[in-house]
Amino acid sequence: RNMEATTFVLFGATGDLAKRKIYPALYNLFVDQKLPQSFSLIGLGRRELSDATFQANVEQSLRDFSRREVTDPASVKAFIQAFRYSVLNIDHKEDYQKLLGMIEKREEELQLSPNRLFYLSVGPEFFETIAANIQASGLGSAKGWKRLVIEKPFGHDLQSARDLNEKLSKAFAEDEIFRIDHYLGKPIVQRLEALQQTNPVIQALWNNHYIANVQITANETVGVEERAGYYDHVGALRDMFQNHLLQLLMMTAIQLPQKSDAEKVRFKKKQVMEALEPLQKQDVSLSVIRGQYKAGKVQGKPVVGYTSEPGIAETSMNDTFIAAKLQIDDFFWRGVPFYIRTGKRMKEKSTRIVIEFKEPLKQTSLAPDDRIAPNLLVIEMSPNEGITLQLNTKDSQHNGEFKPIQIDLHPSGGELPEAYENLIHDALNGNPTFFAHWHEVELSWAWVQPILEAFEEKLVPLHSYAAGTYGPAESDELLAQDGYHWWFDS
Ligand code: BG6
Repeated sequence: RNMEATTFVLFGATGDLAKRKIYPALYNLFVDQKLPQSFSLIGLGRRELSDATFQANVEQSLRDFSRREVTDPASVKAFIQAFRYSVLNIDHKEDYQKLLGMIEKREEELQLSPNRLFYLSVGPEFFETIAANIQASGLGSAKGWKRLVIEKPFGHDLQSARDLNEKLSKAFAEDEIFRIDHYLGKPIVQRLEALQQTNPVIQALWNNHYIANVQITANETVGVEERAGYYDHVGALRDMFQNHLLQLLMMTAIQLPQKSDAEKVRFKKKQVMEALEPLQKQDVSLSVIRGQYKAGKVQGKPVVGYTSEPGIAETSMNDTFIAAKLQIDDFFWRGVPFYIRTGKRMKEKSTRIVIEFKEPLKQTSLAPDDRIAPNLLVIEMSPNEGITLQLNTKDSQHNGEFKPIQIDLHPSGGELPEAYENLIHDALNGNPTFFAHWHEVELSWAWVQPILEAFEEKLVPLHSYAAGTYGPAESDELLAQDGYHWWFDS
């Protein structure tokens, strides 16, 4: 491994994300020998903590959340010795000076080249201030490289995203900004390009001659959890649709014929977004279904409705479910509807992409009826990661009836890394392929903007659905009017 020496500067080091995701990811990278050999981490938070307490807290988070059981005290010790802590008030300029001194001291002690990765695991309201202070303090002016890793949400609408980007770009260049969308870190999503590029059979079918429709689902059983303050201001549209689901759409629809690098992938994704047919505000209700959960039963357990959740106003008109029909107006996809849905308090946790192929056989004398199921390519992220291809065969035991069979395209080979491991590893390596480029973020907000406005102006009805279902009936109708249905709703 010849990764460059790095100082990992973590803002929000005592926060939930750091504990649940970042430390366990770093630890698993360490065990897999995927961290730079020369590595220093400086955790920052509001609270006073000694290095020893900080290290003990990190160790505890590994025990609680690491996918690998933490059994080897020596490896934990070796890992954790790189960790230091400093108290930092985000608004205090002198704290950044102190931080700079600390980083330089560590760089000298460990003989590190001054490459610095600044990871902002804090609320979005702090992004601008931190980036500006990194610049003003000289933290970002060392001879080595600097990178900014930033969590979602990137803006609240098109304008605020643009404002934020403009502010950040005063301190960091686009190729230094790594915008996390953890869906792009999921191993199966990272394999989508290879699936297309290395399989001429699949590549040949990846267009409107053979594909009838694409369905992208991200259903969750959880409700608003303890995030009322955040969620009630964003809803499903901003929380999941604008980022994760549009990213999945881009990753599905890109056409990558040759060997491709990060630049190519991102260019192709941008092209997909540019070809996405824009919605007019007045027409949003024709292709977007909006829902909110009522009381119901999720997996046998009774749960309250959204407006009875702690912290949510009884009158809240926030969406917890979105289904939409999108069209990509380009040579490859013209005429192929992309249906996307996401919801809280659904019947089950399921995240998948289903590619439904056309059924020319249906029109022939071979099978004039409905006995042949369409071919499906299913890319499943949750509950299990896998890719299957559904074909048809003849069942000799049952009077030669046709029956669908599933071919596993994803032989399981050991335990998969978590999304955050992939993403942190890529950020340390300076590989931006699976991070959201500003163009993608901006085009996504631009596409979503008329929907936000239509919701705001109450041009789109808010349907209710019982918790523990697949969302409002209108979501099924969205597909039924084109002659389709959501696959795998039981
Ligand atoms: C987050 C959203 O980005 O993604 C959450 O803020 C959601 O509301 C989560 O629960 C879903 O992620 P995953 O990986 O469990 O599908």
